[in-house]
Amino acid sequence: MLPPKALMMKNIVLTGFMGTGKSEVARELSRLCGMRLIDIDQEIEKTQGISIAEIFSRHGEEYFRIIETAAILQFASEQGVVISSGGGAVLREENLKALQAHGIIFCLTASPETIRLRTAGNNNRPLLQCDDRQVRISELLKERQPFYERAGIMINTEGKTPLEVANEIIGKIS
Ligand code: S3P
Repeated sequence: MLPPKALMMKNIVLTGFMGTGKSEVARELSRLCGMRLIDIDQEIEKTQGISIAEIFSRHGEEYFRIIETAAILQFASEQGVVISSGGGAVLREENLKALQAHGIIFCLTASPETIRLRTAGNNNRPLLQCDDRQVRISELLKERQPFYERAGIMINTEGKTPLEVANEIIGKIS
């Protein structure tokens, strides 16, 4: 399916908590719409030459947030691309404004339990490395909920495949 002409110039931006399926849905959107995909975390890993987890452990979260903003500001002004941002990207006003200026933002959601199941066995997310992941997820979600709500259009991914979510997003834009 091709996106409407008006959208060709705008970016489709995905945000939302870790484990809500942003990367997979972004890949489907990119494929379905024939739009280039930019994954902010992957771009950061490319320029830094190390993984996100390594960036956190070597330099700390604050450093990561600075380079995350730099990457967002660099790519947000592209035209007609799909951007998958990290789960903390919209916490900074600067990032949100840049992404909103050139794109339509969709915020993917899922329940804390689904997020725990989807992120289980994955040790690449420094913010979820703790004794009780379920509690950590619930706390972070509560803290971030207002940021996600004002970032963009909420899309519940519960019980849906990435393809179904991508089609739902296309339906909202068309
Ligand atoms: C983060 C989410 C991660 C990554 C980093 C911080 C967050 O991306 O950017 O670990 O603050 O929620 P994903 O949402 O793709 O896991």
